[in-house]
Amino acid sequence: MRSLLFALLIVNLTLSAQADEVSFAKDVWPILRQHCWSCHSGDKPQGALRLDAETHLRKGGESGPIIVPGKPDESSLIEQVSGDKPAMPPKQPPIGAAKVAILRRWIEAGAKIDSMPVDAGATVKIPATYDYAPSITSVAYHPDGLRVACACRSEVVIVSLVDETPPIRLATESDLVTFVEFSPDGKLLAAAGGTPAQFGELTIFDVAKKQPVLKRRLSSDTLFRGGFSPDGKHVALGSAEGAVYLVPVEARGNVRRLELHSDWCVDVAWTVDGTKLITAGRDKTTKVASVESGELLRTVDTALERINAVVADGNLAVSAGLARGMTGYTLNVALQNVEVTGSGNGARPVSRRDQYVRAFEAPPGEVLDLAVSGDRKLLAAAGRFGDIRVFTLADQRRTGLVTGVAAPVFAIALNRDGTQLVVGGKSGKLDVYELPAGKLAKSLTPVPVKAVTQAAAR
Ligand code: HEC
Repeated sequence: MRSLLFALLIVNLTLSAQADEVSFAKDVWPILRQHCWSCHSGDKPQGALRLDAETHLRKGGESGPIIVPGKPDESSLIEQVSGDKPAMPPKQPPIGAAKVAILRRWIEAGAKIDSMPVDAGATVKIPATYDYAPSITSVAYHPDGLRVACACRSEVVIVSLVDETPPIRLATESDLVTFVEFSPDGKLLAAAGGTPAQFGELTIFDVAKKQPVLKRRLSSDTLFRGGFSPDGKHVALGSAEGAVYLVPVEARGNVRRLELHSDWCVDVAWTVDGTKLITAGRDKTTKVASVESGELLRTVDTALERINAVVADGNLAVSAGLARGMTGYTLNVALQNVEVTGSGNGARPVSRRDQYVRAFEAPPGEVLDLAVSGDRKLLAAAGRFGDIRVFTLADQRRTGLVTGVAAPVFAIALNRDGTQLVVGGKSGKLDVYELPAGKLAKSLTPVPVKAVTQAAAR
């Protein structure tokens, strides 16, 4: 057995020694794609450097060419990834000596680009007509209450609720859009998502112009839900890295990254005064962080199972997930004795939990989304069960029930005065219900889907 392994090893070594010609497509591209592509691709790459197309690779970035064929020591590509503390990729582990060696050998041998892989610079293809209605992963009301935005795979669709205006389809470069929301003034529409293990992306559209005004690749993995700050100047987003991204809507502002969760941070809510963020994680925790300092103020709860959604009212935050419970937290009590500006104090274990917890009637299954009405009076919960539950925030009482809903529901939103509820999920239908009656007022598929023939339907 051992000798066989040994023989294989030797064959392997000889093979790789023979193949000292480094291939861009086979050897170099996988490194760039894994470690660099998230920031150095697309329309607005970091450092004005795109690594996903041959002409761009040759042209280099802000400071000119990054590759001098035959001379790795003079190539800034190598300089950026070498040394004790390599500059690239920033805030991530270095790519390692073995990969640097491959890049060096490739440059030494002339930096030839044998072929550009098909996924290089890939922009997702959005079908004109879908074979099947794609799931709806996020929904949001425009502040005017007359329009709704929803996320369908790689695109965002704005649908009119009041007339027959055709839906407005807005493309993103994300494989999957996980979050949509209109800015408080209704002029902008944020869409976040990404491509797993490659990049997270926020696109902000000008609603009137129907065009993107900002595209930012932020992380090396998908971004999740979050929200606009009350002043409309920032978008906070959870990420598969566990960090919360605070992204200025102005293209020039600096992105902040708050390290809060040890597993995916799936949702973020702002307090009404815009000073704190409530975050929910697959690490089963619900946390409160200070926007100003970026620090964790308190882990207000640890559940038995993952948390999927969080919302915040003036002084009440509510989170829910897989464990059959929806829990409210009275923030001023939960944060007593927490020094908002101090450090180190916030991570203390939770005490007095019973004093600040407000329990809601337990939903019958996993909650996937929560929504609060614009006037902050009602809270709705939906998920892997066939109804939607509506509660009054002030006293945590259930005051409404919408039945006969196609499960699972991935996304819900309430209009300003809580008289209407919009629902999206696996069915691919956007359903609008009237509250408190729970009557289905409208049901439509936001994107064109191939007509199903009678025969196929049977
Ligand atoms: C998280 C985002 C991010 C990732 C990932 C990343 N970079 Fe960068 N890169 C930047 C930013 C921002 C700049 C411009 C500012 C600076 O030079 O620090 C930059 C600049 C550069 C430059 C200089 C460009 C110029 O002309 O000034 C090179 C070269 C570079 N990056 C190479 C890489 C390589 C190679 C990788 C992968 C191993 C990588 N980067 C990964 C963000 C990133």
